[in-house]
Parts: sequence; C-alpha cells; structure tokens
Amino acid sequence: MDDTRLIYCTWRDPWNAFYSRAIENQLDVVHLPFFHYNTIGAGTRRSSTAPAAELDGNVLRMWVDNEKDHGQKPLRSNEPPVPQTESRLPFVFPDLWQNNLGPNARITAAFVCVDEEHSILYLRFYPNFGRFPGIRQLTDLLTGVADITIAHQDRSVVQTRRPFVGSLNGGERLIQGDLPIVLCGRRRAQFQKEAEAVKV
Ligand SMILES: [Fe+2]
Repeated sequence: MDDTRLIYCTWRDPWNAFYSRAIENQLDVVHLPFFHYNTIGAGTRRSSTAPAAELDGNVLRMWVDNEKDHGQKPLRSNEPPVPQTESRLPFVFPDLWQNNLGPNARITAAFVCVDEEHSILYLRFYPNFGRFPGIRQLTDLLTGVADITIAHQDRSVVQTRRPFVGSLNGGERLIQGDLPIVLCGRRRAQFQKEAEAVKV
C-alpha cells in the first residue's frame, strides 16, 4: 500500500469452510440483494447483470455494473466486454482480494487455508475519513464493525455449503453472473495440474 495517508485496521475471522468456498463467495457479486438485503445490498441498486471479468496470469480482474433498478431486465450476455478502465476489484491468486472504493478507502481480504473445513479471513480496511485522531479512531472502529457484520452475513451461508471442497465439474448450477467464479475455478484447476506435474 503506497498511499501513506491511509492507515489500516485488521480483523481476523475464523470460518468453518474451505478457503476456496469463501473466495467463490467473494467473487459472487450477484448475491448482494439476497445475502446483504439489509446492508450493502439494500435499496434500489442491483447487480444482476453479469460482471465483466478477465484472467491475466495470476490476477483475476472484475468490473461490476451496479446500475439502479428501474424495472429493466438483466442482460443475457455470457461474457460482457472488458472495459478499458482499471478494475476496482482485482483478485490475486491464490487468496488475496481487493476492493478499491476510491481515494479515501480500500478493503483487502486474505482467505487463508487451514484445512478442508476451516479457513481464516483477514480483513483489512484502509480508511482516510478524518484528520483528527479521535474522529479517525471512531471511524475506524465503526467501519470495521460494519465490514465484519457484512462478512458474517456471508459466513453464515458459506459455512452451509457442501461438499466443503467444490470443483468445476461438481454439478453446481451456475448462472451468467458466476463468470468470475468459473475463471477462478479454471485457474485453480491449472494450479492443481501444475502441482501434480511437479510431483511426478
Ligand atoms: Fe457478500
């Protein structure tokens, strides 16, 4: 993090889920109105249009069109064109996700594998909301609580997913909004293939 104006606070959160399931959840942007109906998914915004995504080596970039809902139908395109702008939502393999919210805030999440049924989420928030120490500390605390509240909405669902370790050919029914998850699964399958080749 080059911007020295940004301080950070870190939250450590154990999940009873395999780390790839937590990552799939993080790459799933169409769940916001459902999992987060009373927090970040509340109101009139929608994300039912499939996100654009591209895989570039060990970086998966996403672009989300969170336009307002005025009764329009979701686009049916399977792979929307990649915009000529910098992605606000890059994911770096194997386990690092970032949300660049703007010049005053960024969020980074690291999904650390413990075993096939457990992982740890490290959530780091970089705010730049206040010049005065007291206000800044209070802002950090409140935004941290808000972030962990949202993460727990995800956690309560992700922990119910079976099997613990998913796969591309696991028979799951995917929709066009799952493009980033499919690209992530393909890269993970490549990693596994490469690891097997080294063993031989
Ligand atoms: Fe979520």
